[in-house]
Amino acid sequence: MSSRPHGLPSAENFRIEKTETGDLKDNEVLLKPWYISVDPYMRGRMNDSKSYAASWEVGKPIKGGIVAKVIESKSNSLIPGDVVIGNLPWATYCIEKAEHLRKVDVRKVSPGHYLGVLGMPGCTAYFGIMEICKPLKGDTVVISGAAGAVGIVAGQIAKIQDARVIGIAGSDEKCRLLKEQFGFDEALNYKTSKSLRKDLANLCPEGVDCYFDNVGGEITEAVAANLDFHARIALCGQISQYNNSKPYIGYSILPHLLTRSVMLQGFIVSNYSDRFGEAFMHLTEWFNDGRLKYRETIIEGFEKLPEAFLGLFRGINSGKMLVKIE
Ligand SMILES: NC(=O)c1ccc[n+]([C@@H]2O[C@H](COP(=O)([O-])OP(=O)(O)OC[C@H]3O[C@@H](n4cnc5c(N)ncnc54)[C@H](OP(=O)(O)O)[C@@H]3O)[C@@H](O)[C@H]2O)c1
Repeated sequence: MSSRPHGLPSAENFRIEKTETGDLKDNEVLLKPWYISVDPYMRGRMNDSKSYAASWEVGKPIKGGIVAKVIESKSNSLIPGDVVIGNLPWATYCIEKAEHLRKVDVRKVSPGHYLGVLGMPGCTAYFGIMEICKPLKGDTVVISGAAGAVGIVAGQIAKIQDARVIGIAGSDEKCRLLKEQFGFDEALNYKTSKSLRKDLANLCPEGVDCYFDNVGGEITEAVAANLDFHARIALCGQISQYNNSKPYIGYSILPHLLTRSVMLQGFIVSNYSDRFGEAFMHLTEWFNDGRLKYRETIIEGFEKLPEAFLGLFRGINSGKMLVKIE
């Protein structure tokens, strides 16, 4: 990262530099990153403010979730040709301790899926739905940011629980995908809806039982006005607010939460790190038996990383946004 953004980041906040990887030491491997994840949470890392994880430093490489190939090894546990996942620098080659990496099997699973449906976004969807929303059979579940990496999985997990699922997304094409490919019962385009609040009221005459919030802002206000008594909200993300330079002052949803006895819980997926094994087991089972489908938007080329990241804020992705490097 070359500088901190104010408001919406731009390509000028990033810089590509050439450096040496250094020599390989015992228990280390030389890696060639293959699929690099770009994620909305990274916007928070660009700020110099206290959060649940440290900020990125100006002038230092950006780090994130990466699937990489082992090129050389001085470790007993990994050999050249192995594919691993780790928190690695955005680089064309890098050196990492083998103990910080997890080997993944890419014979039957697309490598990028370990950064999506079978990775952090999948786990986020799993815990938000299963631990916070807890939909009952027939409940109405609304998902904002529904066509993204987390939202697509959250909606399908709610369907597996026999809920009725309504997705909110930013294009007609995304809404079509949600219904035709991912089994959502209904989908609303928040960019063309004249009144999301009324459209939701029409689709949910008995109210919304669960809301998985990826976006916040006006979309969340529209959902809040339609919540049923004892609804549950999994507060997962607030992407509509990440680039604000001033605090958002909207219509307060709190009276709805009070008068309808709503439970709202914010969460960070790492709260559940001791249960990731359980999530992977269920996600893998559902993925293998075809109940959980997935989609990736893949941009090719290391130099396209900033473009892919910035594209998240324009909604150019459906499913998980990845950058592939050959
Ligand atoms: N709590 C956690 O531990 C955790 C973990 C992972 C992710 N998250 C959060 O979950 C959310 C989704 O993450 P993701 O990785 O799945 O990203 P994503 O949904 O794959 O990508 C971001 C999407 O957000 C939508 N968006 C962008 N700006 C928006 C705006 N102003 N208003 C409404 N929608 C907007 C865009 O879709 P449209 O075309 O529909 O606008 C875009 O495609 C993010 O808020 C992220 O920070 C939280």
